[in-house]
Amino acid sequence: MLKGISIAIDGPAAAGKSTIAKKIAQKLNYTYIDTGAMYRALTYKAICNDINIKSDHDLSKLLQETDIILKPVNGSQAVWIDGVDRSEEIRSQKVTANVSMVATHANVREMMVGKQRELANGTGVVMDGRDIGTAVLPNAELKIFMTASVEERAVRRFNENESRGIHIPLDQLKREIEKRDQSDSERTVSPLKMADDAVLVDTTSLSVNEVVDKVILLAEERVRP
Ligand code: DC
Repeated sequence: MLKGISIAIDGPAAAGKSTIAKKIAQKLNYTYIDTGAMYRALTYKAICNDINIKSDHDLSKLLQETDIILKPVNGSQAVWIDGVDRSEEIRSQKVTANVSMVATHANVREMMVGKQRELANGTGVVMDGRDIGTAVLPNAELKIFMTASVEERAVRRFNENESRGIHIPLDQLKREIEKRDQSDSERTVSPLKMADDAVLVDTTSLSVNEVVDKVILLAEERVRP
């Protein structure tokens, strides 16, 4: 068994980060933390409460009053908001279309980063997001920057949606992914950016298992004396 290290996985939307991160956490018996789900949870609550998502002040206040819990279930992660399981709702089109705006705000990010560091405290952890290697866990033993071509990412999202009975044209998904990439990369606070010491993994032509094995190999190299 691999001793408890921190593995940070960053990259653009729909690059396969959470699928891969979940599997790695399961194989290594580590804690899996999907930080995007936390921004989605706040976005969901803001929409339900008619909060102005352009206001850092209003969103930070809302976050202070919100209980977000990530619960491990069968190798995945459920997201509970104020005592109710909202794992499905936070993946809705409406949340997806608005979450990048919520994630631009400095105070919101500072509060989220604080929560994420607390969750990572102690044992082995696999955390995925956009700023894990650069801001949340700058001392992570292994940092991965995961990418795939935008066409491949749109196809993966399309297939994932279809399997859940959600029908959205491929073209539209591609445009949405490009828009989110742009917003996540161009924001002023903690933009999506590869950490200097991260390993670039392009998953375009790799299977899930190939990527998982590659990352675990890299993790083993990091702990080898
Ligand atoms: O990984 P995801 O698609 O669930 O992320 C949702 C949004 O949250 C995404 O547009 C970028 C933002 N995000 C972020 O800014 N920082 C993180 N650590 C994780 C997600």
